[in-house]
Order: sequence, then C-alpha cells, then structure tokens
Amino acid sequence: MISIGVLASGRGTNLGAIIKAIEKGKIAGKVSIVISDNRNAFALKRAKQHNIETQYIDFKVFKSREDCDKKIIEYLKEKGVELVVLAGYMRILSPYFIETYKNKIMNIHPAFLPSFPGLHAQRQAIERGVKFSGCTVHFVDEEIDSGPIILQKKVRVKDNDTEESLAERILKVEHQIYPRAIQLFCRGRLIIKEGKVFIK
Ligand code: GRF
Repeated sequence: MISIGVLASGRGTNLGAIIKAIEKGKIAGKVSIVISDNRNAFALKRAKQHNIETQYIDFKVFKSREDCDKKIIEYLKEKGVELVVLAGYMRILSPYFIETYKNKIMNIHPAFLPSFPGLHAQRQAIERGVKFSGCTVHFVDEEIDSGPIILQKKVRVKDNDTEESLAERILKVEHQIYPRAIQLFCRGRLIIKEGKVFIK
C-alpha cells in the first residue's frame, strides 16, 4: 500500500474521486493525510468524512515558503507519504519541497498541456478558440505546469461553451484520469527518462 498525501485548497472533487477509487479497490494505496492552506476548504471536510487525518497549515505564521513547506514535509513524513498529490492546491511549492519529493509529486491541470498553463486554463482555452482542450496529469518540477506528462485526455470545446460549462466537462474527465495515474504510480509502472514518462 503506497501512502499518499494530498494537498488541496478548495472543494476537493478530485480528492473525492481518488478516495472513491481507493474505496473501490482501484488504487493500491491509501490517503494518509490531507493538508490544506485553507481552513474552510471543503476538501478537509471530505477527508474527515472518510476518517482521513487532516492538517490546516497557516502560511502567515512562517517566515518563508520554504519554512512552511518544511512543516508540511514533517506532516507528510510522519505518515510515511511516498506520493504527494496536488488536488487544487493553490500555492507554489518551494524548490526544497520539489527536491525532497523528486518525481513523487503529481498535479492535475485543466488543459491539454503544454497549452494554457497557469491560472484560468479553461478561460484561456475559450478565449483562444481551440476546438479541443482537456486535462493533464503530470509530475511537478520547478516550473509551473511543466513537469513530465503522465496522462492526458481530450475534451471537445463546443461553440456555445462558457468557461464554466467547459470547466464542468473537463472536471468529469479529471476524475477519471487522476485516479488512473495514481494507480499507475502505486503499481510502479511510471518510468521517467529524460523528462518523459513511460508507462510499463
Ligand atoms: C481542478 O480543475 C484541477 O484541474 C485544478 O484545480 C481544480 C481543483 O478542483 N488543478 P477540485 O478542488 O479537485 O474540485
């Protein structure tokens, strides 16, 4: 059983999908802890509903991002976390964090990377007029939304889509591919070579 630590800032629907997949036996791992920088994140409630340990981390009490990340790492280490899953976590990780969990941090982005990194990816897709967008699960490196790509799935953009309607359809697909990517990791099937992920 791989011990998974989830970092989330918001509603945590991806966290919900991951928990569900674990409960159905589709992931050979367990969520040991959910950490949030937002005291009121619904993600924390979700975790508690499933008897998962939670921690709130108050950024304001730390001198630097690294100090704060060190605290988070302490929580993760206590739970023997081997995979860190970012699920709507709105803070940038320090290089120290990324180095500590090198190739062991995953993120999901609501666009078909490398198109539309950063915030408001769905709005960027609508504004650019692409016919397809989608979502991407990738490992996290020092740059934003740029690490080795694990899984991607396309979503068609309709003529009458709004940012919200597109986001909603992409989210459904996120809930399919994030648990799948995590399972591949837990099964030891992800090999990273020269910045690319190969699935064994
Ligand atoms: C998702 O759209 C994800 O792609 C992005 O943040 C959002 C998190 O949603 N990284 P939720 O909190 O999992 O519902």
